[in-house]
Amino acid sequence: MNIPLNDYVIQIEEGLLSKINEDIKTFYEFRELFILTDENLFKLYEKELKKELKDFDLKFVVIPAVEQSKSLDTYAKSINELIGLGIKKNHLLIAFGGGVVGDLAGFIAATLYRGVPFIQIPTSLLAMVDSSIGSKTGIDILEGKNLIGAFKNPLKVYIDPLLLKTLPKVEYKNGLAEVIKAGLIGNKTLYEYVKVHDTLTLEEIIMAIKVKVDIVKKDPFEKNERMFLNFGHTFGHAIERHYDYAIKHGVAISYGMLFSLEIGTKLGITEKGLYEEVKDILMRLELVKEPLLDKTLFTKYFANDKKNLADGLRFIFIEQVGQPKIQKGVKF
Ligand SMILES: NC(=O)c1ccc[n+]([C@@H]2O[C@H](COP(=O)([O-])OP(=O)(O)OC[C@H]3O[C@@H](n4cnc5c(N)ncnc54)[C@H](O)[C@@H]3O)[C@@H](O)[C@H]2O)c1
Repeated sequence: MNIPLNDYVIQIEEGLLSKINEDIKTFYEFRELFILTDENLFKLYEKELKKELKDFDLKFVVIPAVEQSKSLDTYAKSINELIGLGIKKNHLLIAFGGGVVGDLAGFIAATLYRGVPFIQIPTSLLAMVDSSIGSKTGIDILEGKNLIGAFKNPLKVYIDPLLLKTLPKVEYKNGLAEVIKAGLIGNKTLYEYVKVHDTLTLEEIIMAIKVKVDIVKKDPFEKNERMFLNFGHTFGHAIERHYDYAIKHGVAISYGMLFSLEIGTKLGITEKGLYEEVKDILMRLELVKEPLLDKTLFTKYFANDKKNLADGLRFIFIEQVGQPKIQKGVKF
């Protein structure tokens, strides 16, 4: 299936990896391909990538497989390596990995030589349904997550769900948190599915991608509706920051979604019962556990949230499944 988004296409198909050699040749004329990936994926897929991209000379830059790789330090080191390997402004950079690889490679693609063309091949569920879609790239700094970044369209996003066969279970669940979010903000059918299933078929992966694509199309630069995608993320990012990124993004936003639903219920914004229902799903998937984290620990980090604009913090609530709401001036 091909899903167009602005001026590029997201291709989703089981087994797609075996077709991209021919596809890339239709729009790229050079032999060198520069691939940024992490050490886990390099071990698992180096041979397969060399086999599938047989008409290209692959040059790898391999980063540690941790959130801390989204740093100024790894950004500078990766750029040094890429230049050392001979990358030029019209060479193609491929992000082969999860959200960490995608965000870092995308930011390099946006800034190296003021822009090099790049492609996303997301390998984690989270990256397939979320981080590879919508052109946001970035890195973390001491003051907070994703505080330096750029919007950079890839030339293509190639999604091959067969890559998920090697994804550890805990990472799969991490991605399910974003799928639950997608359901809550934009697709009741998807939400009802994840309420009772632990694995997705191609159909639900596509549904989750479409929730994001539809929102990004309406508001590519996050002036309004795109903030819906940040449901659970104000607390989520604060939790990640508090634990120095030693907590999974999916776990952090799971608590973030619950806190938003709890506060929303108290304020009369969120429909009664939704908090308990979502809590049951997240407990079943072991994304949260009792006792829940203490939300008062995290509000001090909100000052550096990207949704904290000059005229105050925007906070995302859910009124009912499929109906998100942006609220200003929430007191915590
Ligand atoms: N740009 C955006 O719009 C956006 C949206 C959501 C999240 N994000 C970012 O995404 C990041 C989280 O992404 P993530 O959860 O993919 O984390 P990640 O990139 O760290 O990947 C998680 C782990 O899974 C491994 N892995 C990935 N694919 C695999 C596969 N197919 N087989 C085996 N192992 C595999 C990785 O090596 C890593 O150890 C965060 O930094 C978050 O801020 C960005």
